Amino acid sequence: MLDAALINAAQAAEHYEITRYGSLVAWARQLGRNDCASILQKTLDEEKTVDKKLTSLAEGMVNLRAAS
Ligand SMILES: [Fe+2]
Repeated sequence: MLDAALINAAQAAEHYEITRYGSLVAWARQLGRNDCASILQKTLDEEKTVDKKLTSLAEGMVNLRAAS
């Protein structure tokens, strides 16, 4: 159960970062700073990748163990 809670907390942080980087990418584009937007987009993509990995971990093993 503790592992599931830790993964959940990590995922909450990733979701927070995804919303922030998503906004920053949009604002950079609106300001015509595509140079900044592309760097921020890379970070946003990394955050989404980590989120998917955490989801995979949670669904794959931790929730099953927590339920038993
Ligand atoms: Fe992150």
